[in-house]
Amino acid sequence: MRFARIAGTGHHLPERVVTNQEMEAWMETSDAWIRERSGIRERRFAPADQGSTAMGAEAARGALREAGWEPGMVELILFATLSPDMFFPGNGVLLQRALGMGTIGALDVRNQCTGFIYALSAADAYIRAGMFERILVVGAEVHSSGLVFTTAGRDTAVLFGDGGGAVCLEATHAEDGSRLVAHRLHADGRYAEELCVRCPSSARRPFLTPEMIAAGETAPHMNGKEVFRHAVHRFPEVILEVLAEQGLEPSDLALVIPHQANLRITEAVRKRLGLPAEKVLSNIETYGNTTAASIPIGLSEAVKAGRIERGDWVCLAAFGSGFTWGASLLRY
Ligand code: ACO
Repeated sequence: MRFARIAGTGHHLPERVVTNQEMEAWMETSDAWIRERSGIRERRFAPADQGSTAMGAEAARGALREAGWEPGMVELILFATLSPDMFFPGNGVLLQRALGMGTIGALDVRNQCTGFIYALSAADAYIRAGMFERILVVGAEVHSSGLVFTTAGRDTAVLFGDGGGAVCLEATHAEDGSRLVAHRLHADGRYAEELCVRCPSSARRPFLTPEMIAAGETAPHMNGKEVFRHAVHRFPEVILEVLAEQGLEPSDLALVIPHQANLRITEAVRKRLGLPAEKVLSNIETYGNTTAASIPIGLSEAVKAGRIERGDWVCLAAFGSGFTWGASLLRY
């Protein structure tokens, strides 16, 4: 049998730390409000001349190093982001150029907070099918360029941060058990407008005007309560679904790495699964919500900190805009 396994992980967080106290100077908000509602204390912002490709490229360099791969060994790039450098082309080709990866294929994934799970599942399927041996999967975001840092934008501006994560996936015959095992993917488009960026839009004429920018339509619009209500239900549901398929219980897992949406959501999921705090990764306090980057950042940090070892059962799970949600089960 042919499977895919994680050969290397990497992550990148820009140096600039933005605290809640700094946010207080830009808008009517408070450290206490942000911490109580989201668990966030600080986040990182990228330099003004760097976009999500730069975040992804740094993370990818780290993953390549850990895997012991040269850039020329990668056969395909999958890049998940909701904050691409350009409207088109996508970040995949920009990353390929930045890392000097010849003319290999580059596929962009647009599934927001669940983007990394969708990308990982597709890469796994490509490898299992025998089409590729080595794939680079990246999740990276720069939110700080698109948020509105005034009181008008405070409901989303305080939540998001910049960063990138990446994994190198390679074909294996799983003699040591290390492999991606299963994925479950879901979406419910009835809720598309509950968490979205409306402009630029090909459904509007013209697709962008100064009025749209002034009205905040290029920034995220979020119905926070609706997102919360669905997230606390869908996260545990999809984790239990992918575990049940393998005859496993939450207690079999060495670590759950949930998308870092909000500390209250992560805590609700942890309690629902009956797991102790050390078995559910949380880093939202210091990075905020980095959407498609949060899972690969968490995974890379867990590997470096020795929180997971080869052969351990690990579950990655996400919920986000779309609504989309999903989970990946793996033996690291
Ligand atoms: N600082 C201070 N006050 C604020 C801020 C802020 N940054 N943002 C909003 N408020 C105000 C609101 O204007 C409102 O004031 P009002 O009562 O005078 O109208 C008040 O705080 C309460 O606002 P709510 O939106 O009702 O606050 P809520 O308790 O629902 O918390 C939050 C908002 C944190 C977004 C919450 O709904 C939540 O956790 N939602 C889950 C969504 C989430 O985590 N999204 C992350 C991104 S999506 C993802 O990754 C899945």
